[in-house]
Amino acid sequence: MGVFGGAIFVVLSLLVIERAVTTLGHAKGEREETAETGSCDASAGTWVYDSSYPLYNSSQCPFLENQFKCLENGRHDAGYLKYRWKPAGGCDLPRFDGRGFLSRLRGKKLMFVGDSLSLNQWQSLTCMVHTAVPEAKYTSTTVDGLSNFSFPEYGVELMFFRDAFLVDIVSTSTGRALQLDSLQNAKLWEGTDVLVFNSWHWWLHVGRKQPWDYIQEGNKTYKDMDRLVAYEKALNTWAKWVDSRVDPSKTTVFYQGVSPDHANASDWGQPKADACLDQTRPLAVSRYPAGPHPAELVAEKVIRSMTFPVRLLNVTYLSQLRVDGHPSVYGFGGHRNMDCSHWCLAGVPDTWNLFLYQSLVAHKF
Ligand SMILES: *[C@@H]1O[C@H](CO)[C@@H](O)[C@H](O)[C@H]1NC(C)=O
Ligand SMILES: *[C@@H]1O[C@H](CO)[C@@H](O)[C@H](O)[C@H]1NC(C)=O
Ligand SMILES: *[C@@H]1O[C@H](CO)[C@@H](O)[C@H](O)[C@H]1NC(C)=O
Ligand SMILES: *[C@@H]1O[C@H](CO)[C@@H](O)[C@H](O)[C@H]1NC(C)=O
Ligand SMILES: *[C@@H]1O[C@H](CO)[C@@H](O)[C@H](O)[C@H]1NC(C)=O
Repeated sequence: MGVFGGAIFVVLSLLVIERAVTTLGHAKGEREETAETGSCDASAGTWVYDSSYPLYNSSQCPFLENQFKCLENGRHDAGYLKYRWKPAGGCDLPRFDGRGFLSRLRGKKLMFVGDSLSLNQWQSLTCMVHTAVPEAKYTSTTVDGLSNFSFPEYGVELMFFRDAFLVDIVSTSTGRALQLDSLQNAKLWEGTDVLVFNSWHWWLHVGRKQPWDYIQEGNKTYKDMDRLVAYEKALNTWAKWVDSRVDPSKTTVFYQGVSPDHANASDWGQPKADACLDQTRPLAVSRYPAGPHPAELVAEKVIRSMTFPVRLLNVTYLSQLRVDGHPSVYGFGGHRNMDCSHWCLAGVPDTWNLFLYQSLVAHKF
């Protein structure tokens, strides 16, 4: 049975006791370790100040892209680095044990598939692991949209495949067709042990940033479509592929969850603010003023309809509270003007990776 074999659907509300985490890497006793399942839901909670944060020093992560290096790009307030997610209900996210993570993943491939928010989370994970094993050799290459960060001594490959829509865009004589029911890239994902999918932000692009000319579904073509409807159709195509082509005893599949942007400060009740600029603190509220993210609701609906036990990283709400977590004007090389979509690193995606880590370690291998 594979390392992630025998997947049981574990919603990310496992109570991972500190013990289950700190014993990681001690091969002996590992087998007996069972994750205690409690009623702790890590998706709800609050951000608390923690002087031990951040999880790594971004300037000691040599491969981090400029667009995420807010401090190095001149951001002066460093408070945003100091917050730890505290789930409601008395449970804590595990501490990240990078060495144990590599041992668990020995001989395995993990791949993020999606847009630049996947890049954001992948970069966060590689920084977290590199910081844990700074002496370990790594190689990093990018060929044809596939970035491959590997730790040869562990035989671990952490990859990122850029694929903003998951479904295909095909050039035809009449223009670029966004094909909602076609998934040609899927063959590149096969043979990966852990897949982490994400798509949303590109569905919103119109005008020059929109990389397609019309939408195609079966024999029908559309000039345009409600973007949430198109997103749902595409996710259903993805879901069908996962349900029919992925073996849950060999492959663990995550959905990264929808990463919210903070481009409109009315969403959190500060209509006078200039998007996320100059936000220095997480929102201290018990409900995000604009409510749940509509795309997240679509993703949850599709995942619920699947037979494959996809694990959702339910990080949308905790990210909605982090109006302070974006590069804003300190994201050189990313957005041209103000970037309230991506996240500074170190930062919020580190917590997404704690969810990923929690799920992978809490699971009996
Ligand atoms: C995700 O988290 C939010 C906020 O806690 C919650 O309302 C929602 O039900 C969760 N979704 C799933 C599928 O667990
Ligand atoms: C991060 O690393 C840089 C370069 O090594 C160092 O100058 C800086 O003091 C470190 N920052 C913190 C908060 O430790
Ligand atoms: C990733 O890089 C490692 C080390 O160079 C290599 O062994 C492996 O084949 C690469 N994987 C892919 C999918 O290219
Ligand atoms: C597309 O049209 C052709 C010819 O009319 C038909 O044979 C085929 O079944 C159609 N395909 C779909 C997916 O509707
Ligand atoms: C921002 O949100 C408010 C209310 O949520 C809406 O009325 C307004 O049109 C939005 N502004 C932009 C630029 O989208």
